[in-house]
Amino acid sequence: MTQKPSRTQALYAWLDERLGLTTINKLVLDRKVPKVNWWYTLGSATLFLFILQVVTGIFLTVYYVPTPDHAYDSVNYIMQGVRFGWLVRGIHHWGASFMVLFVFLHMLRVFYMGAYKYPRELTWMIGVLLFVLTLGMGFTGYLLPWNQRAYWATTVGTQIAGTPPIIGPWITRILRGGEEISALTLSRFFALHIWMIPGLMALLIAVHLYLVIRIGISNPPSKDE
Ligand code: HEM
Repeated sequence: MTQKPSRTQALYAWLDERLGLTTINKLVLDRKVPKVNWWYTLGSATLFLFILQVVTGIFLTVYYVPTPDHAYDSVNYIMQGVRFGWLVRGIHHWGASFMVLFVFLHMLRVFYMGAYKYPRELTWMIGVLLFVLTLGMGFTGYLLPWNQRAYWATTVGTQIAGTPPIIGPWITRILRGGEEISALTLSRFFALHIWMIPGLMALLIAVHLYLVIRIGISNPPSKDE
């Protein structure tokens, strides 16, 4: 006698028939991968950190106010007045440093193992953009607490961005929204930090992972390669 499926099984079958969950699972998670080692987990670790930054960042925007009058106080309030605010901010703060570290190590492993070669050139190129954008997240996020360190670091950073000949001063003005760091700089950096850069990164990560799945993971190089 065949057993009646449980409620969860029935629900899964209902959803599966409509969404094709089993097919997606087979394609995305149940793929054949070569025998690899721990170095191959760095991309997934970076992905985890990206998601962690998005989630904690969203929670921070509940209290953070991106104006010169309120930014500093709102961060103080998150640290002292909001329950677990210190924890969410702490995770976001350390997560940023870890993400830079992990994306760099992931890039180094891909380079060292020659995984950027045919047919993975496009995966590499998108990776380079992701690396630059990760640094961009760090740069734009640094100004948001609007304290002395943030102000002067951004003064120096935007000055450095202005060093190329001819277009340099123009880049500085675009970044600052004028000649000096002001309310315009803060709202510009905020928009870049919470919408523009993460949106672009999410899109690029989706294409990056699509390529990883489509092409498959490379083999660790053997002795005679
Ligand atoms: C937000 C940043 C990034 C995320 C979330 C990410 C994620 C991943 C994941 C999950 C993989 C699967 C294999 C593995 O983990 O090693 C992978 C592979 C790969 N990534 Fe990234 N990655 C990022 C940045 C980069 C950067 C900066 C580069 C290089 C410039 C890069 C180049 C590659 C290449 C070439 C592969 C294929 C490796 C192979 O097949 O062995 N990625 N990435």
